Amino acid sequence: MSTPIPQPPGVPLLGNLFDVDPNNTWWSLKTLAEKYGEIFQIKVFGHRIVFVASAALAEELCDQKRFRKYVGGPVVEIRYTVHDSLFTAFDHEESWGVAHHIIAPQLTPDAITGHFGEVLQCAEELVAKWQGLDPEKRIRPLDDLNRLNLEATTLTLFGKKLNSINGPEHPMIQAMEDSTSEAIKRPTRPKLLNWLVHGGKLKKATKTMRAFAAELVKDRQEHASDRHDMLWAMMNAKDPETGKALTESQVIDEIVTMPIGSSTAPCAIAAGILFLLQNPDALAKARDEIDAVIGDGPFTSEHVSQLHYVAGLVRETLRLSCAAPGFNIEPIPKPGDESPVLLGGGKYQVAHNQALILVLAGVNRDPAVFDEPLAFRPERMVGEAFEQLPASVKKWFGNGKRECIGKHWAWEFLMVVMTKLIQDVDFEAVDPNYQLKQDGWFNIRPIDFFAKVKPRSR
Ligand code: HEM
Repeated sequence: MSTPIPQPPGVPLLGNLFDVDPNNTWWSLKTLAEKYGEIFQIKVFGHRIVFVASAALAEELCDQKRFRKYVGGPVVEIRYTVHDSLFTAFDHEESWGVAHHIIAPQLTPDAITGHFGEVLQCAEELVAKWQGLDPEKRIRPLDDLNRLNLEATTLTLFGKKLNSINGPEHPMIQAMEDSTSEAIKRPTRPKLLNWLVHGGKLKKATKTMRAFAAELVKDRQEHASDRHDMLWAMMNAKDPETGKALTESQVIDEIVTMPIGSSTAPCAIAAGILFLLQNPDALAKARDEIDAVIGDGPFTSEHVSQLHYVAGLVRETLRLSCAAPGFNIEPIPKPGDESPVLLGGGKYQVAHNQALILVLAGVNRDPAVFDEPLAFRPERMVGEAFEQLPASVKKWFGNGKRECIGKHWAWEFLMVVMTKLIQDVDFEAVDPNYQLKQDGWFNIRPIDFFAKVKPRSR
């Protein structure tokens, strides 16, 4: 006999519509995970979704022999903007393999090391901006970190300097916000309402983003370049398996996909700044390490792998911020077999085609794995302590075949930016009692976290 999967009581006809705030879905899911534990379900408009929030059950869902990415809900909605791109392609779509084989070589650790100087240059621009501000000025760190991220993504992958760290905010940032918020909200609204009232926002954002990408392509066509970067690969390389290249429209799809994926990194860094403010001991240890490893000389790519404590600090930030808050899974279909799928050694049963979502706010803070799971302790993310953790609590970059293709880029960006900020900037919380609350769409960020910044006092 299996155990029923807990479900909030809900209301007649509408089910659990009111248990999930469409303006802050992930915070609602975190709250439900805290109440119901390792597994729970909701039913909205007749659709059942099962959520998994423990390390042990997440481990099971990460078994690629049994489960795969579920492309549904918001992921399908954002296909309006990027069609069958890497992030949104259904399992059966050939386009995924073609794009993956063309793009992945541009995102290997070696390829990323080649972009170290450009990432550092962008990070230094932000540091100079923050060091030059009135020390009493209130800033929302995320705003500038979003600019930095778009700047670094566009420069490293597409060879274009936007000059948007100091200049006006680039329209891509609002367009990414508008398209991803719409993608999350549309499945929670009646179709007619989406079409009649809300269609314009997604359309406008899509136009802005695709125009941005088309401009990058045009620029490269018009200005000969010897850069063999991601844009070059998208425009020229062929998938060695099928011999196919990306079509013009697919190049635009993939260019637009990259900053959307990448925009998770500034969310993590904004939370990381907060964790450092709340944990001065961790800040002091990171500074000691950075001063010992880099000292007063230039920061080089060789230093990155020597900054063990900073690496632990970045991992602990990824664990606790859940900047990418979860991912969708479904059982791999078995033709002719519609028997239920068993979880937890038969403790739970779900339908053969049940959509499941891993809620990292539960998985990453599972008390069965972490002593004081809410405490920020970089030490547990270093060396053997880190190696011994179950794989399922390290899934901040997703899982298996559909794991984040940008994870090495993200790692270098997080390491470089966190190192520079710790090395050169002093932060002060505007509200010393601020407690992390997050909202967001495909990624989550601290709400109304303000700080003051000034050059590090030595
Ligand atoms: C802290 C930073 C980042 C985090 C935490 C993160 C997290 C994730 C996660 C969890 C997935 C899996 C989504 C799913 O299963 O539906 C994913 C996929 C993806 N990410 Fe990232 N990401 C980050 C940065 C980046 C960057 C920098 C890029 C691009 C340069 C990127 C591009 C992508 C793409 C294209 C996919 C889809 C891959 C596929 O399905 O083949 N991400 N990311």
